[in-house]
Amino acid sequence: MLQSRWQSFSQQPLDKRLPVFERHGRLYDVIFAQQFNRSDLDQLFAITQRLQTLAQSKPGLDFLASLLLDKRAMLFFVQPSTRTFLSFQNACHLLGMKSSEIRNSFTSSEVKGESQEDTVRMFASYVDLIIVRHFEEGFAEKAAWVLNTESDQSVPIINGGSGKDQHPTQALLDVYTLQQAFQNAGGINGKRIALVGDLKRGRTVRSLCHLLALYPGVEIAMVAPKEFAMQQDVLLSLHQQGVRYTTHDKLDDVISSVDAIYCTRLQDEYDAAGESAAIDYKNFYLRDDHIPRLSSHTVVMHPFPRRAEITTAFDRDPRALYWQQARNGMWVRAALILYLFQRETWLDRAP
Ligand code: NCD
Repeated sequence: MLQSRWQSFSQQPLDKRLPVFERHGRLYDVIFAQQFNRSDLDQLFAITQRLQTLAQSKPGLDFLASLLLDKRAMLFFVQPSTRTFLSFQNACHLLGMKSSEIRNSFTSSEVKGESQEDTVRMFASYVDLIIVRHFEEGFAEKAAWVLNTESDQSVPIINGGSGKDQHPTQALLDVYTLQQAFQNAGGINGKRIALVGDLKRGRTVRSLCHLLALYPGVEIAMVAPKEFAMQQDVLLSLHQQGVRYTTHDKLDDVISSVDAIYCTRLQDEYDAAGESAAIDYKNFYLRDDHIPRLSSHTVVMHPFPRRAEITTAFDRDPRALYWQQARNGMWVRAALILYLFQRETWLDRAP
């Protein structure tokens, strides 16, 4: 019964499904990057900046820790994670929320045969927010759909990475980092941004494309092995929004002509039969000899974890923004959580 209702829901086009994840014209669940419009981003980034400013003083930090004291969060992370888990957990704590976690489905009742739907409904009995990372595409969406349409108790769900599909909060922190990087250079509008690596299975770059499309004049250089090229659903969406993109099979081709380079690793955990081993991924590495060819304003990003995609010789270069990205993650996520609880206006009472 439930499965067949989910089947018919999930087969509808995205624009028909999105209203289920909204309440009164505001985001309720955060599942897809496509849920954000430009004014949502501007609002979220303004909240992020206020949080960062307030956190510079002890009274400001104490104030932040009072904002969600009455709320509890559940981190359901059954796929490996370092940055996303820790930044969400610390974002919760920064706002005074208590958090609990499941990091392995072997320690939950799923091993006793409980359905994932029932597991999520149980979490909603204990907490006010559920943050989910899952190896299955669509799991976060299904969990939010179950709570919103099949259950008498619903709490917001944030997608912290769903299989090969989406990682909307990573895209938020990536765009926030780009905005900071280009704040004295006309902002993100009109910039040429290279997305490099396994674009087919990289959920961060898939989500990022949807957010970059909100900035007029952005052009995306898709740099990927042909086996792992960006998928048609994203390309079609860019095309429909009038976003220009080019395709390339090595980083060398674009190194001197882009404003930002966003490197990613090979997502070999999703191999069906060892297909990653056949790829010469070196064409997608930022090497020592690339550094002199980078223009003085070109920034370099990576969602991490990094393998050999970026030479460590670049790590202390001011154009290396990957550390900044990780730091920004906690603040952007805190801003998002505050927004989901509709308490961003409480910041006006700050000391
Ligand atoms: C990414 C992820 O999990 O998708 N990591 C992250 O959240 N920062 C990227 C990756 O694993 O390659």
